[in-house]
Amino acid sequence: MKRVLVVGATGLLGRSIVEVLGDDAEVVEASRSGSPEIVDITHPSSIEQLFARIGEVDAVICVAGMVPFLPWSDATAGDWGIGISSKLMGQVNLVRIGAPFVRDGGALILTTGVLSDHPIPGSCIVTTVNSAVDGFVRAAAIEVGRGVRVTAVSPGWITESMEAMGMDSSAGLPAAEVARVYTRLLDDDVTGCSVVAAKGM
Ligand SMILES: NC(=O)c1ccc[n+]([C@@H]2O[C@H](COP(=O)([O-])OP(=O)(O)OC[C@H]3O[C@@H](n4cnc5c(N)ncnc54)[C@H](OP(=O)(O)O)[C@@H]3O)[C@@H](O)[C@H]2O)c1
Repeated sequence: MKRVLVVGATGLLGRSIVEVLGDDAEVVEASRSGSPEIVDITHPSSIEQLFARIGEVDAVICVAGMVPFLPWSDATAGDWGIGISSKLMGQVNLVRIGAPFVRDGGALILTTGVLSDHPIPGSCIVTTVNSAVDGFVRAAAIEVGRGVRVTAVSPGWITESMEAMGMDSSAGLPAAEVARVYTRLLDDDVTGCSVVAAKGM
């Protein structure tokens, strides 16, 4: 049975991933609050302490990280800093610090998003951060070694998020289906790429 660390386990995608994994894996749930393991990925020391506590895993799935969505003209240096320190550098540091704790042939699976390739008004920070995550995955995969795979899932609109925002959710993919894209990557022989999880793709 694989031992899988899920960072962001209390969130929409994290809860779905934990549910899809069910009893098929030994799941280590982590987030900033409300999980058995507490970690703040914006602080490298917090990531180091997490791995010192939990030890080796077969895989790390990260669905944590904040990135502000707001019009270009309203985005301050502070807003850019949040996206860069949280969703980008949080995930980079999770791989940098966590890779030695991933067993040979294991997997590190991050989160980007389709706004990386398909920007919309308000997505300037999201598009920039997601594109950087896509690039990081391509580059890290060739250096991490020991057969450890580095990938990302690129979710499109998620049904539950659209409903929460009062939008027509017909173009969305349920979180459970997005979660299955993450869990497939635990075994699929792919590395160095971002896999889209969106309706019709
Ligand atoms: N939902 C969508 O429609 C959608 C679409 C495309 C891409 N995505 C991407 O998918 C990812 C997850 O989305 P989601 O909707 O599941 O988010 P969510 O419901 O807001 O959950 C985020 C999770 O990450 C944790 N987290 C946030 N900052 C953290 C930090 N610094 N350190 C450790 N844990 C932290 C949260 O824990 P706490 O609550 O304890 O802070 C929570 O468990 C994000 O990268 C998002 O950009 C989402």
